[in-house]
Amino acid sequence: MTTIPSIDSLRTQFSQAGQGHVFRFWDDLNAEDQAKLLQRASEIDLQEVAQLVETHLKGGGAHQQGFDHLEPAPYISLPENGGDAAKWKEAEAVGEQALRAGRVAAFTVAGGQGTRLGYDGPKGTFPVTPVTQKTLFQVFAEKIARSAERFSSDIHWFILTSEINNDQTVNAFEENDFFGLNPDQVHFIVQGLVPAVDADGKILLSDQATIAMTPDGHGGSLRALVRSGATALMAEKGIDCISYFQVDNPLIPCLDPAFIGFHILGNSECSSKMIPKAYPLEKVGHFCLQNGDTVVIEYSDLPEEKQQETLPDGSLRFVSGSVAIHVFDRAFIERVGGGSDAKLPFHRADKKIPFVNARGEIVKPEASNGIKFEMFVFDALPLAKNPVIIEGARAENFSPVKNAEGVDSPKTCKEDQLRQFAGWLKAAGVDLAKDDNGTPAITFEISPRFAADKQDFVSQWEKLSPQTEICDGVVIQGEGM
Ligand code: UTP
Repeated sequence: MTTIPSIDSLRTQFSQAGQGHVFRFWDDLNAEDQAKLLQRASEIDLQEVAQLVETHLKGGGAHQQGFDHLEPAPYISLPENGGDAAKWKEAEAVGEQALRAGRVAAFTVAGGQGTRLGYDGPKGTFPVTPVTQKTLFQVFAEKIARSAERFSSDIHWFILTSEINNDQTVNAFEENDFFGLNPDQVHFIVQGLVPAVDADGKILLSDQATIAMTPDGHGGSLRALVRSGATALMAEKGIDCISYFQVDNPLIPCLDPAFIGFHILGNSECSSKMIPKAYPLEKVGHFCLQNGDTVVIEYSDLPEEKQQETLPDGSLRFVSGSVAIHVFDRAFIERVGGGSDAKLPFHRADKKIPFVNARGEIVKPEASNGIKFEMFVFDALPLAKNPVIIEGARAENFSPVKNAEGVDSPKTCKEDQLRQFAGWLKAAGVDLAKDDNGTPAITFEISPRFAADKQDFVSQWEKLSPQTEICDGVVIQGEGM
């Protein structure tokens, strides 16, 4: 247990760092609020805050990228798009071997606030499947349980939460008996927080006793894995491949043997899946090569003419969309998430942040008044040795629930799940009637506990006797599920 420094020593440290105002209301606080403020202040890394202020406020912003010599990052194509089928088979076998040997863990980042969806609760508890309304967490839990069964292995699952949603997340698992998983193999990790500052770099207070803190971004997941002791636990269990995905994407094969295999064969520290962009200005990051480094450049940073640039055959030059699907090497996480110099950079975001002014009044600003700092996980790529990028089919990998309506909403995600299920049935020889968008005419579901990906489904379906009659409302789940 760490001891909390005394108010006198903390006040001195904060004053020396130009942040003494944090204790401005100290004498007016009751004992409980004083203890709360003391605890929080003691957790703040003042040196990090000073560096952030120096770089992002005083230094006039982080270094701006030039895009003149930008190249598309190379990637391994799917066999159906010209990739070497034998190489994919080999990768799949290597990945399967690693899964069987217990070398692979699943890692879900679920610390975000899900503001766009506007759902009251952790996003992982949002119901998504078309018939039984399973939640995102249940979908992943069942895919992981199925993979553990398929590869006769223990698979550990690490879940990044934040202070805001950790208790609710843990409760959701407890109330549902961990969705059939062994609780000893499910690990919750609370991500770090960084104080928000005003335009002068002064830490904001959201009330007299509370420092305005914001989560350190999905990039903070790497240092959270180290700080929480998760990487040490992984080392103890012989886990060295970490399969990373976001909480809002139920299409993801949580543990993809071919992807894991390519990562291992490439001796890669950080591997990524690219999805070909659906249209030139799709709002995704772009995998690029910059001065020999593999990087992801956000759509908001990449000039539109680059996003739209085509090759002589008319195809998009910068076609590789980044959708936050990675495999990390554990030792790499230990390096970039630990004390080494190779750290993920912070990005600045200007926001409206309610704060208490010097008179003790709470102000709700109408325009951006504060700055929050976040790390992005894809910034790990240029720090990694031998990064590998493989192509993923969108239909098998990506349909996030981000917005309440419109694009990337529960509705589009349900349709994409239906199309995915219909595609799996087709691969198993069952063709369903579909509309012009390829959406089946009926609503049905394949239980993730029955099959975790297309290939798994085909072999499970072959073994199923009698095979389920496909009709509206049916759930394909095999016997005893
Ligand atoms: P998004 O950037 O989509 O953010 O996160 P969000 O919080 O889910 O939704 P909005 O932007 O508030 O509407 C992408 C993934 O990264 C995780 C999220 O939980 C999601 O899985 N994330 C994001 C974290 O784990 N921590 C963070 O600090 C930010």
